Amino acid sequence: MAKQEDIFKNVISHAKEYGFIFPSSEIYDGLSAVYDYAQNGAELKKNIREYWWKAMVQMHENIVGIDAAILMHPTTWKASGHVDAFNDPLIDNKDSKKRFRADVLIEDYCEKLQQKAQKEIEKARERFGDAFDEAQFVATNGRVVDYLSKKKTILERMAKSLDSGDLEDVKALIEELEIADPDTGSKNWTEVRQFNLMFGTKLGAAAENAMDLYLRPETAQGIFVNFLNVQKTGRMKIPFGIAQTGKAFRNEIVARQFIFRMREFEQMEMQFFVKPGEEMKWYEYWKETRLKWHQSLGLGAENYRFHDHEKLAHYANAAADIEFNFPFGFKELEGIHSRTDFDLKAHEQYSGKKLQYFDTEENKNYVPYVVETSVGLDRMFLAVFSKSLQEETLEDGSTRTVLRLPSVLAPTKAAVLPLVKKDGLPELAREIVEELKWDFNVSYDEKDAVGRRYRRQDALGTPFCITVDHQTLEDQTVTLRHRDTMVQDRVKIADLRGIINAEVSMRNWLLRTK
Ligand code: GAP
Repeated sequence: MAKQEDIFKNVISHAKEYGFIFPSSEIYDGLSAVYDYAQNGAELKKNIREYWWKAMVQMHENIVGIDAAILMHPTTWKASGHVDAFNDPLIDNKDSKKRFRADVLIEDYCEKLQQKAQKEIEKARERFGDAFDEAQFVATNGRVVDYLSKKKTILERMAKSLDSGDLEDVKALIEELEIADPDTGSKNWTEVRQFNLMFGTKLGAAAENAMDLYLRPETAQGIFVNFLNVQKTGRMKIPFGIAQTGKAFRNEIVARQFIFRMREFEQMEMQFFVKPGEEMKWYEYWKETRLKWHQSLGLGAENYRFHDHEKLAHYANAAADIEFNFPFGFKELEGIHSRTDFDLKAHEQYSGKKLQYFDTEENKNYVPYVVETSVGLDRMFLAVFSKSLQEETLEDGSTRTVLRLPSVLAPTKAAVLPLVKKDGLPELAREIVEELKWDFNVSYDEKDAVGRRYRRQDALGTPFCITVDHQTLEDQTVTLRHRDTMVQDRVKIADLRGIINAEVSMRNWLLRTK
């Protein structure tokens, strides 16, 4: 089995074993692509959400946050284009009976071409050392040029066929490329069909006059329909942003990657309203700003890359993904979209209400353009969790599993451990918990030998362990053990709050986004 698959399996089982993520309604055998966040997962998820909210809302004078309802008037989704165009092209394999997204099959094929080109580049880098000129090599090496131009041609053809609704050509492309079912190798495909991803539901008690609704497939529309309410009541001046976090629902065709692609998930979105004509400047600004936010978490700059879209959504004039190196390769983590005035204009048209801004400098009304940043909270969770989970071999040859979560996001900041369960040590440890809990999530653990307790906290991602021993009774000092280095310091109880705060405070982590 490929190593990547092993790593991913390990991530899923660790998330379950240590109380981060459980399958939804597991006692009934679960529900496909729906998950519950457990006691530690809920804390980690909340911390990621707060880290985003502070960076976007608290740190930007011109961005405010809202919390719109999941259920919206159904015309919202007609106006936004979701009723007519929020479709995925699906294809079934006749032998394995498995369903796939036709565009994803083709994109995966192209990703392999990209990887082959990358391999050639790395080989050449090793061969030429410091003298290596990557740009020149990419432009002139026959194999690399072939791989990349083939990729470009395929993606362009797919984009054109999908845009024009030519699903026969999408199938023809799959056949020409000899793409097989990745699990069985079968190339026996059905036709490609469009499938709308919105979940329907009903409002009202009596069936005959119930109203057909949709569960929102994105949080963004809750922002657009409130644009004028917020602008007026908040006296917002362009450029300004409206942010929100919340649940979204999509009846995904292929949902086999744990919390990467779920049917119920959470988004963290921000719509930035700008003067028409200035959208590209802000689009570039938000691409860079959002990348810096991700990189501030210290998971390794090499694990992020931009992917500029060839095929644009119906509302966009430019779009890029920030991709992350997940255990199954580079995939979309966040989308940054220049959405033009599509949404506000469409809501004007369908509602009959003006959604315009009066620009006092220009002395005229206009419909603002919008640059959107949209990141999946669950995907962020998977990115952080999977990169943090590490297996280490120690000097004595033993191994330890350590979840090196960015300490700002760790569910528990410190565990307080009495060395033994007697001599007044538990009581003293509890006093420390009582003191620290006003500022941090802390836990208390007295079960098992202290070495085992350390390992358990390592696996939970707890940055500090505080051990209370007999010396503590005499001089009010404790052992402070650091998760990542396993170094132990002797510190005063009175200094604990300051030391922990310096390591975990959001302020210190957010300063890295500057
Ligand atoms: N408002 C724009 C929008 O919704 P999107 O690219 O469809 O754009 C934005 O989604 C982000 O939401 C994605 O980058 C991803 O992180 C997350 N996301 C989308 N579908 C998801 C799913 N089924 N499960 C988990 N996260 C998802």
